Amino acid sequence: PATSLQDIVSHAKEYGFVFPSSEIYDGLQAVYDYGQNGVELKNNLKNMWWKAMTQLNDNIVGIDAAIFMHPLTWKASGHVDGFNDPMIDNKDSKKRYRADQLLEGKAEQYAAEGQAEKAQELLNEMGRLLGDNNLEAVRELIIAEGIKCPISGTSNWTEVRQFNLMFSTQVGSVAEDSNLIYLRPETAQGIFVNFLNVQKSGRMKIPFGIAQIGKAFRNEIVARQFTFRMREFEQMEMQFFVRPGTEMAWYEQWRDTRLKFHQAVGLPTEKLKFHIHEKLAHYANAAVDIEYQFPFGFREIEGIHSRTDFDLKNHQELSKKKQQYFDNDLDENGKPFGNYIPYVVETSVGADRLFLAVFCNAFTKEMVGEGENQKERTVLKLHPALAPFKAAIFPLVKKDGLPEKAREIEKALKTEFRVFYEERDAIGKRYTRQDLIGTPFCIAVDYQTLEDNTVTIRHRDSMEQERVHISELKAKIGYAVSE
Ligand code: GAP
Repeated sequence: PATSLQDIVSHAKEYGFVFPSSEIYDGLQAVYDYGQNGVELKNNLKNMWWKAMTQLNDNIVGIDAAIFMHPLTWKASGHVDGFNDPMIDNKDSKKRYRADQLLEGKAEQYAAEGQAEKAQELLNEMGRLLGDNNLEAVRELIIAEGIKCPISGTSNWTEVRQFNLMFSTQVGSVAEDSNLIYLRPETAQGIFVNFLNVQKSGRMKIPFGIAQIGKAFRNEIVARQFTFRMREFEQMEMQFFVRPGTEMAWYEQWRDTRLKFHQAVGLPTEKLKFHIHEKLAHYANAAVDIEYQFPFGFREIEGIHSRTDFDLKNHQELSKKKQQYFDNDLDENGKPFGNYIPYVVETSVGADRLFLAVFCNAFTKEMVGEGENQKERTVLKLHPALAPFKAAIFPLVKKDGLPEKAREIEKALKTEFRVFYEERDAIGKRYTRQDLIGTPFCIAVDYQTLEDNTVTIRHRDSMEQERVHISELKAKIGYAVSE
């Protein structure tokens, strides 16, 4: 059976993965809370990324910078002037839309009708007009294309306005402009402003990277598709500082390395693809997205950008502090490369988007059993390393010393793995509950266990059972988790 986004949203809520924020007040648009199982899955993903960056690369270190940064940071980064979405309102429905998304929708429609060339022409025209910030012409294009508001059905559009995506707030008690600060719209700038602190204190030699996981905030106007586009979200970013001229080779290397990461967390190769950017962000000279095939189509989960010296150069200019590195490696003439502002290759993945991709991919409805006993089951086929619980331990019955024996096993395992203990209900029901949250192993303790210290392991995906000695459990689970 096909999976819809609605199936994913319902399952995430019902089984403690993701709740709408402040739900008792009917929720807050584009903001979500992670529940008891969701936080475990998300932490596991973050830990995997952190390890892939800072443990497996001896030239990458991590930091944890503050969300609040000096306001000039966002002037230097280009976000004050350039981090905008072009918005348009329909006068009849009073609904607000992103002008570029209306035009992209029209282009998609052309493409679906087999008019690929017309679609491409429209996208090119839009890119050109937005690049020139010719907002009046963008409006005219929307009208000329006959684009109507889906709510009112009219094309009674207002002018197009640029709308900055940064949230701002005040520090201190005086509401003056100088006290205005922003909630960071990307974690990257916390890395750039600490580039020399880390380089000097860690005696880092180029090429080297700085990794960070943290919250970012964007006032997204068109909020949809669950945790795909949120107003408060989490990024996992790594800035890799390189010698100018070597950036394209690093860019290609990181692009391939990052694709392998997504495969390693269990996303199938056929559901992943690269999307090379033609329209570049204000800071990049090359950019590629890794896209995953969500139930609503292929969408970006990670961006790999070659950012040149854009950020460090601008920080140097505004802060009046040199952002240079002295490279004493020798060039082909035997002279040190000397002082320069490094170039940067960035890898940037949304923890929430990766979570959603992994969750969508794991969510499985399948027919099991034979003949009359055939029935549908729902199971989360998560990689064991990502599953909220690695194993569940069930005494077959609630008497005759079986619970005590099961508790002993739980105690032995729980120092190494997050495990779940349950003695209520029929064992079939208990298996089903673990399938729904993705627990890879269920361990059943029965009368035979009391005699020979063996238990039954039931495997989540194959539903097959095997008899193993208690002493083998740690190695068996550990192997699956680390594979
Ligand atoms: N520092 C570069 C940067 O921020 P981006 O393409 O704007 O680049 C990087 O964002 C990643 O952050 C995206 O690939 C996505 O996974 C995640 N992301 C961005 N906006 C998001 C949002 N509103 N909700 C959830 N994730 C978001």
